[in-house]
Amino acid sequence: MLEVQNIHSGYGSVPVLRDVSVSVNPGEILLIVGENGAGKSTLLRTIGGFIRPEKGTVKLNGVDVTGHAPESLVRSGLRLVLDGHRVFPEISVYDNLRLGAAARPSNDKAGFNAAVDNIMTVFPILKEKLHNYARDLSGGQQQMLALGQAFVAQPKVLLCDEPSTGLAQALLPPILNFLKTWAASGTAIIIVEQHIDIALPVADRAVVIERGQVKISCAGKDLKAELQKASEARAASGLPT
Ligand SMILES: Nc1ncnc2c1ncn2[C@@H]1O[C@H](COP(=O)(O)OP(=O)(O)OP(=O)(O)O)[C@@H](O)[C@H]1O
Ligand SMILES: [Mg+2]
Repeated sequence: MLEVQNIHSGYGSVPVLRDVSVSVNPGEILLIVGENGAGKSTLLRTIGGFIRPEKGTVKLNGVDVTGHAPESLVRSGLRLVLDGHRVFPEISVYDNLRLGAAARPSNDKAGFNAAVDNIMTVFPILKEKLHNYARDLSGGQQQMLALGQAFVAQPKVLLCDEPSTGLAQALLPPILNFLKTWAASGTAIIIVEQHIDIALPVADRAVVIERGQVKISCAGKDLKAELQKASEARAASGLPT
C-alpha cells in the first residue's frame, strides 16, 4: 500500500533522513519510535508531500507519488494528522467533521452520517459537544476530533504524529484502540509515538529511527527484545546505552 524506499530528506542544506525505507499494508499499524530530533516528523512530512526528498521514492498502491503536492496526495487517499491537534477552533465540532468529509472519496450523506455516528460512539464526549465551538474542547478532545476528521475522510493511508501530545495518559489507550479497529477495516496506519508501552500492543510492526536512519525494523511483539539487544551491544562497545 504505502512503500517508502531509500529516502534522503531534510530542510534546505540540512540533511535529516538518510536512506530510510518503511512500508505499511492495508489493515496494518506500523509504529515509528525514536528520540527527540531523530527525524520521525520529517519522515511523515516527506511522505505527506510537504518536503520533497532529495533521493528515494514514495509509492502509494504501486504508483510513484514522490514529490506530489500534499493536496494531490490527499486526493490519492493519504491523510496526515499532525501533533498538537489541528482543528478549526472557530467552528463547531460537527462542522469540523463536515470539513473532514470534503476529502471523502464519495460524498454519500448516509456514509458520512454513519462515520459520524461511529466517531460519537467511540468518543461520546464529541456527541455531547457536537454543536460547541471546537475551541471549547480540551486538548484531548481536540485530538479526538482531529482523528474524527481524518476518519470521516476515509483515507487509505493514515499518518498520525504523536497522538499523545497534550493528552492525559488515560486518554491514550482509547485513542489507540480506536486506531486499531480502524486499521482492521483495511486502512494502513503509521503512528509516531513516544509512549512505547501503550502504543506497542496495537502495533503489527515497529521501526526505530536514530539520527535519521532506520536502526531497527521488526514485528511489534519483538521490539522490546530488539531494543534490549541494541542497548547491550552499545554497552559492550563502551557507548552510552
Ligand atoms: N523546519 C525545520 N528546519 C530545519 N531543521 C528542522 C526543521 N524541523 C525539524 N528540523 C530538524 O530536523 C531534525 C529532525 O526533526 P524531527 O522534527 O523530524 O524530529 P522528531 O523525531 O519528530 O522529534 P520529536 O520527537 O521531538 O518530535 C532535528 O534536528 C530538527 O532540529
Ligand atoms: Mg516529531
